[in-house]
Amino acid sequence: MIRSIKGTHDILPVESALWQAVEKNVRNIMGRYGYSEIRTPAFEGTELFKRAVGEDTDIVSKEMYTWTDQSGTSLTLKPELTAPVVRAFIQHNLSRLNPLQKLYYIDALFRRERPQKGRFRQFHQFGVEVFGAENPEIDAEVISLAFNILKELGLGNLKLIINSIGSKDCRNKYRNSIRDFLKPYFKELSETSQKRFHNNPLRILDTKIPREIEILQNAPSITNSLSQIDNDHFSKVCEYLEILKIPFKVDDKLVRGLDYYSRTTFEITSDILGAQNALCGGGRYDDLVENLGGKSTPGIGFAAGLERIIMVLDEELKSEISPAVYMVGLGSQAIAKTMELTQVLRNRGLTVHFDPLRRSLKSQLREADRLGVKIAVIVGDQELNTGKALVKDLTSGSQQEISFEVVVENLVELFPES
Ligand code: HAM
Repeated sequence: MIRSIKGTHDILPVESALWQAVEKNVRNIMGRYGYSEIRTPAFEGTELFKRAVGEDTDIVSKEMYTWTDQSGTSLTLKPELTAPVVRAFIQHNLSRLNPLQKLYYIDALFRRERPQKGRFRQFHQFGVEVFGAENPEIDAEVISLAFNILKELGLGNLKLIINSIGSKDCRNKYRNSIRDFLKPYFKELSETSQKRFHNNPLRILDTKIPREIEILQNAPSITNSLSQIDNDHFSKVCEYLEILKIPFKVDDKLVRGLDYYSRTTFEITSDILGAQNALCGGGRYDDLVENLGGKSTPGIGFAAGLERIIMVLDEELKSEISPAVYMVGLGSQAIAKTMELTQVLRNRGLTVHFDPLRRSLKSQLREADRLGVKIAVIVGDQELNTGKALVKDLTSGSQQEISFEVVVENLVELFPES
């Protein structure tokens, strides 16, 4: 048997209904915040990710799916979306249309990580990228959008941590102090961290090795290297988040795993997920557009992992996502009537399931239950005679007879948002 590749998965019915519900919600909320969708190709030139995400990051140094095509060009399946969106922003000169660009996406990404719970080799994200705004109110808007989407999707127990890693100059200053601090421990560091010590010492703060985490506990805080302007910016972000009533904690060790960040960084986690607990991460990248060849333009964004969100939502939402009707026809005349009702209800926007296998009432109701359907409409000989359908609420078990003339209107009223 040919099977799917390790770390990838199929999204089958009934799970796909949950994905659709989440995606619909995300699009709806993005619209409310004034974001427009952008879609970019599945693969890009490898150089884009090397330059944007950084050669010393885990993503670029060991996780990319890269190959050389027949013409000798190095291509990479996108491991993240900030770099492709920045590339598109520059290529199409989007700032010409409007100095403020607010873009969102829902897409598949590829990283060759070790597969485990919440970590896949093909996974999905939704996220935003905003170009052209450097004031702290946009940081607060982007962070609150990330937090509010997760909350509106029904996720509880969210933890938001934020930090500022300062502008380029502050980070250069900090690089020297972290090198000075780590010098006495150099021999104890892993090979990767020793390499990073020379090329990119900030990356060492991302380590998962227990001894290195222990050493870093006493490392100097990046906060001490921030300029007055960066400090003021960060204080304003915190102040606005308080006004927006978004609960957060400051963590001065949060540098994030990608090299393009500057100033504000943030992450939202959920305890339910265990080790892979990050639902969402993001931050500012004020130098990235220029580094990739565009005009100097500030940027900020976030991305949230859909598989992890779906995992948390799975149980909670399953029972709510099916404002659907299961139509049961018993006997050939009743089947004709239920086919007619099914068509009218579907035309009015309702989801209606219908059993062409002509199974028994009991097994049809079992099927309705499996699908998480709320209402069953039952029509047999008796109902045909009385001109009334039997409408059963499968969650409460209550049932009533409703005449064929008004049953459609009644059901449409029950599910006004379908
Ligand atoms: P990231 O932290 O690499 O950031 O990924 C964001 C989210 O994607 C994570 O918090 C996680 O939920 C999900 N994720 C990442 N890797 C995997 C995986 N292997 N399997 C399942 N889910 C995963 C970025 O990608 C940045 N581009 C975010 C950003 C946008 N920063 C600014 N704008």
